[in-house]
This record gives sequence, structure tokens and C-alpha cells, in this order.
Amino acid sequence: MALRALTREVSPALASCELTFLEREPIDLGRAAAQHDAYCAALASLGLDVARLPGDPGLPDCCFVEDTAVVVDEVAVLASMGAASRRGEVAAVAGALAKHRELARIGPPARIDGGDVLVAGRRVFVGQSGRTDAAGARALANALAPFGYEVIPVAVPGCLHLKSAATALDAETLLVNAEWIDLAPLLGFDLVHVDPAEPWAANVLAVPGGVLAHRGFPRTLERLAARGYDLRPVDVSEFLKAEAGVTCKSIVYKTPP
Ligand code: GLY
Repeated sequence: MALRALTREVSPALASCELTFLEREPIDLGRAAAQHDAYCAALASLGLDVARLPGDPGLPDCCFVEDTAVVVDEVAVLASMGAASRRGEVAAVAGALAKHRELARIGPPARIDGGDVLVAGRRVFVGQSGRTDAAGARALANALAPFGYEVIPVAVPGCLHLKSAATALDAETLLVNAEWIDLAPLLGFDLVHVDPAEPWAANVLAVPGGVLAHRGFPRTLERLAARGYDLRPVDVSEFLKAEAGVTCKSIVYKTPP
């Protein structure tokens, strides 16, 4: 199987993105586009087939494709996104995913963002956040149950999405910020904690051959290097201002070679 990374170009309106926990700061659009190019190049250098959908001037957050769908080997589940301004993002992503997956769809009033969904084997941890509610988690559980997945809710009191505070380094290991989420459902994993001075560092993207991580979190990168992870530092500083990180900018899934 090949691995595809589905991405979407940065909207010219990125500076008007949704913000929940952060104050708005100026975003340099040219720098954001260059950082996105470098991110796509890093994924391509690891052998992923990087698809780049066009951006949309009417959808400021459109480059954060992760939130629009949950893709497992058997199905792509389209999200009922928690922010009204983002709901128009789903259609273009659905068109791309339909080439490789059956589509299922979660509809309102249930709310769910893909950034709240952490798939670990057949267990699917779903953040209960400002964007994803219990009905969203139940709807995802119903969509994935025929394929043997178990959905486990995780309280997310301190940040936008579950994956702002917990991402997988490998099948047994998570990188976490324990200050922002309830760790109890995740205690069966080997947990690596971010450096306390770098609360945003838990969002990394592990793919075969390397772990993409923001280069601006050196203390946490040291912890990961000490454990032997093959780090691919990338700069996502303009996207951090939009309350996003490395996982937000792609959906990675298997495709036929
Ligand atoms: N700016 C990313 C989000 O709020 O979804």
C-alpha cells in the first residue's frame, strides 16, 4: 500500500481564522504558504504521495483538512464540524476522499472535528471539546462499529482539540500535555510529556520513516530524540497563531500503489 497525505492550500483569508484560546496576532501569508510548501515537501521526502487541493478565499481555515474527516482503512467519515464558519470545507475534501474510500457522514446536531479524533489501532479516542460533543462521539462510534473500532471519549478542558494535547508517536506511545486533557483514558499507553515550557509541543505527526514536529519546541524535541525518534522538524509558526499544528494540515491514509 502507498500512503497519501491529503492537504489543501492556505486560504488568502487565513488571518480571519477561527480562534478560541488565543488572541489574534498578525499572520504573514507569504511565510505561511512557504511553511506549508516545506511541510508538504517533508511528507513527500518520506515517500508519501502528497495531494494538494486548492485553497478557498471564503474558507479561512481550509488548510486544516484534518478537521473535516476521519479516515480509517475501511471508510472515510465526514465531519459535522463544530465551527459554523468551517462547514463549507468538507465538500472539497469529500470529493478527494471518495476516490479511495466509501464515505459516511455525520450530520448536525451532532458536532465533531477530526482534530478531536486520535486513532490507535482499533481504539478511537474522541475529545469532548468546544468542537466535539457526546453526540458527535456517538455518531462516530456508530459509523465505525461495523469495522470493529471502539470509541473512547476523552475530556478536553484546556485546549481546542484532543490532538492539540495528545498525538501518537507509535502504536504504544503518545506525546501529551497533561495540563490540557484528562489523561485517565490514555494511561495504558507509554506517555511522553512535553516540556512544561512548551505546552503546544504535543502536536506531532508520526508517519513511517519520521516524526514531523514544530522546530520551535527544542526541549520537547530533545526528549523525543533521546528516545530515538527520527525527527523531521518543520516550521509551523504561522499556523500556531491560528491555533493549529502539524497534524491539522493533512489527512494521511493508505491507498493502492
Ligand atoms: N483555527 C483553527 C480552528 O479554530 O479550527
